Amino acid sequence: MLIAIPKERRSHEGRVAASPDVVKKYVGFGFEVVVESGAGAGANLTDTLFQDAGAKIAADASLALMNADVILKVQRPLTAAEGTDELALMKKGAILVANLAALTYRDDMKACAEAGLTAFAMELMPRISRAQSMDILSSQSNLAGYKAVIDAASLFTRAMPMMMTAAGTVPPARVLVIGAGVAGLQAIATAKRLGAVVYAFDVRPAVKEQVESLGGKFVMVDETAMKNAETSGGYAKEMDDDYKKKQILAMHEQLKKTDIVITTALIPGKPAPVLITEDMVKDMKTGSLIMDLAVEAGGNCSLSVYGQTVVRHGVTLVGPANLPSTIAQDASVLFAKNLYNFLQPMVDKANHSLNIKWEDELVKGTCICHDGKIVHPMLTEGGK
Ligand code: NAI
Repeated sequence: MLIAIPKERRSHEGRVAASPDVVKKYVGFGFEVVVESGAGAGANLTDTLFQDAGAKIAADASLALMNADVILKVQRPLTAAEGTDELALMKKGAILVANLAALTYRDDMKACAEAGLTAFAMELMPRISRAQSMDILSSQSNLAGYKAVIDAASLFTRAMPMMMTAAGTVPPARVLVIGAGVAGLQAIATAKRLGAVVYAFDVRPAVKEQVESLGGKFVMVDETAMKNAETSGGYAKEMDDDYKKKQILAMHEQLKKTDIVITTALIPGKPAPVLITEDMVKDMKTGSLIMDLAVEAGGNCSLSVYGQTVVRHGVTLVGPANLPSTIAQDASVLFAKNLYNFLQPMVDKANHSLNIKWEDELVKGTCICHDGKIVHPMLTEGGK
């Protein structure tokens, strides 16, 4: 069985879907591994490192993919509609494992099905304990939360910690984290380590305790409404209008006192909730900063611009296009391990092949297409 790791070709993407460490493991199972030359360059994982781990290096994507049985990618392949057609380089029947953003790019999933691929969308991995080590959203969000604070601190024109010096006292920065999931909790921990005073807000009730255990102060909007804010899968629900009004008032007041805002609020499969309006930005202090991690899903601030840093009403708004990619080495290593952890239980060591367990809920939860057809219930007719 041949595993291929092509170079990522989408903009703002410096990660790679395998590390030398996992390549060594795949080779240990008796698989052949081919890595496209330069695939790891953005993550400082050189061709030599992959070669030393047992991979062959292919000069281009076509040579890497033409005979591949399994293709590991970070992002969904480019399609004919986008000019460069990566799908055309993949053989019918090949297995594709990646962050496919399947619920957002449904036409691309149809193209994967038409290309005859068996595609697994790692972002749809069920959130059960057995799958924690395969959860790309967690591994990448954690790094994004960290990097968001580091980037914000470097753009901020004041210091983060309180400093008492002979020339006077520097007050600590006040950081507000909106959405305290995986990214938000890491942002809270990072901002605390840098010495900021940290406030956090989320709709899910479980979060209050987590925020406080990291030394953050929880901003409470409506304790009663919060009891109903979480799905059985641990994700946030969309809140009703009454709650949204209360939240806007509470946020408005909090933002007037805040220096740096890190927003990470997402509702799976829906546009990100707009939690910071232009009026709120107008009332923030000049020189304050909003780092909007939800910008790829539309943004938590109505003024954020995807992939750009803009200044509006004296406030710097950062809309990072792909934060995990800015910390590409660690992000790639963890992403590669997530994919490995998904595939490893299916390895048929005797036959040096993959034995897909079609009845496994992790396979059912992530398989988008097989045998030329879309098979995922969230994408077939009637699915939500
Ligand atoms: P996410 O990326 O979908 O959302 C980020 C955060 O935004 C969440 O905490 C959510 O509650 C919050 N949010 C949504 N709407 C909001 C609003 N209107 N105002 C304020 N906040 C809002 O979620 P993420 O971070 O991927 O995971 C959420 C939770 O799932 C984790 O904290 C954890 O408890 C659980 N989880 C479980 C895993 C497992 O068991 N395998 C793995 C990873 C996470």
